[in-house]
Amino acid sequence: MIAVVDFGSQTAHLITRRIKENKVDVKIFTPQQALLEIKKINPSGIILSGGPSSVYEKGAPSIDSSIFALGIPVLGICYGMQLMSKALGGKVVAGEKEYGPAELQMSNVKSQISNKLPKQFIVWMSHGDRVISLPSGFKVVGRTESLPFAFVCDKKRNLFAVQFHPEVSHTQKGDQILSNFIKICGSKRQSHDIDVDSLKTGIRETVGENFVIGAVSGGVDSTVAGVLVAEAIGRKFLPVFVDNGLMREGTREHVERIFKQYKAKVIVVDAKEEALGKLKGVLDPEKKRKIIGKLYIDLFEREMKKFVDLGKDVKFLLQGTIYSDVIESKGSKHASNIKSHHNVGGLPKKMKLKLLEPLRYFYKDEVRSIGRKLNLPKEFVERQPFPGPGYAVRIRGEVTPKRLEQERIADKIILSELDKSKILDKVFISFPIMSGAFSTAVKGDARLYGEVVAVRIVTSGDVMTADWAKVPYEVLQKISSRIVNEVPDVSRVVYDITTKPPATMEWE
Ligand code: XMP
Repeated sequence: MIAVVDFGSQTAHLITRRIKENKVDVKIFTPQQALLEIKKINPSGIILSGGPSSVYEKGAPSIDSSIFALGIPVLGICYGMQLMSKALGGKVVAGEKEYGPAELQMSNVKSQISNKLPKQFIVWMSHGDRVISLPSGFKVVGRTESLPFAFVCDKKRNLFAVQFHPEVSHTQKGDQILSNFIKICGSKRQSHDIDVDSLKTGIRETVGENFVIGAVSGGVDSTVAGVLVAEAIGRKFLPVFVDNGLMREGTREHVERIFKQYKAKVIVVDAKEEALGKLKGVLDPEKKRKIIGKLYIDLFEREMKKFVDLGKDVKFLLQGTIYSDVIESKGSKHASNIKSHHNVGGLPKKMKLKLLEPLRYFYKDEVRSIGRKLNLPKEFVERQPFPGPGYAVRIRGEVTPKRLEQERIADKIILSELDKSKILDKVFISFPIMSGAFSTAVKGDARLYGEVVAVRIVTSGDVMTADWAKVPYEVLQKISSRIVNEVPDVSRVVYDITTKPPATMEWE
């Protein structure tokens, strides 16, 4: 078993997942309980996660330095590296912040940790502080242009540290580094596969004879969750689709078709007018999220009441929450709150329903693999995620019927051009943003002061990191021409070339 000490990293659970992918058991500990528990379970290796704090900050999470003397191999990641360095006599300072890709150059120091690693590869950074002097016994395994101590080790004591994040999918060879560490630890391999039948059994055991109501949005997460529950409890599952008019075209029909295959009839609530009315004059993205969230809850309550009046004992509410939602909405004790999005646990107690979240501990690609095991159509399982508040967070400022229409046409253009050029299934997400900026254009000899549309297309494996898609110029050209020509009153198209971190995928 590998023990992961979580210092509030957004990626602590991603680390555990990478370990599980190596078919090795893993457990997360808080810094407070770590030393005691680790002595008890005697793991084969310890990983110290990253975290948002600074090691010299008052109240920053720390760990008893005797952990490094237990004779157990330790890998420190980012904040974990800084803690390890400070504890063993090195020096850490606040430096220039660095987010996103950097090129790692390997040194000539040979260690098992560098097995099968090329001379240079891309790693992803997300840090403010940095180590400027190493504890004695440590050697440099790799450096980047700005970090002389990006990857270090003390072979004698089996201590390893990286300033970058090997657990994120954009770090090339991150898997190799973690699997090298696991080999050094000599951990036993266990079998690990998602067992869909036991997920269904778990749902049946939790729910008993009660009814489950569930919001299905047409997105991968809520559909996979819905189909899982429909298969587990049949007609006791009541799927509800709230049509707030902020979703992609055809979503409602799509949802109805999918659930029909599983013999579940979707209840459609038409809230298009209501949603637009409530969003009138609202500019702040968080307010928009809250309005849409509240509307969804109100409509749900209304639907639920109808079921209760029919004598159905509805006790559970299904939500398609997945792991990245949980962490990005404040996943662990020390993590900083990124956005109040994803509606996690956002249901007020007054609904008196228990939450059923069968996908809470799975990442997007695991959810897709569950979808495949449930025989959901391929094009559906590969479908792009779409945020709950829909186009409202892609239209900066006020959502008006005109801007909603502009957004919808531009979205369709991007999707169809990516599909035509066979790029659609290679990207994680693509969408236009009604930017709220205005610029000049001349259309048919007339001057137009129209809105600027930004195009965001990113690749991502685990949602925690993303890179802007290197879409060929000809395709971008086609998208740009079509948007300025086919979407009324648009003056200009720009392409967003920012990685995550630091920028999130969505603009709001
Ligand atoms: P960010 O922008 O956080 O996006 O990098 C990561 C993933 O989350 C989706 N997202 C949301 N989903 N409600 C949602 O249900 C939201 O408010 C929200 N904001 C972002 C985003 O589309 C991407 O898939």
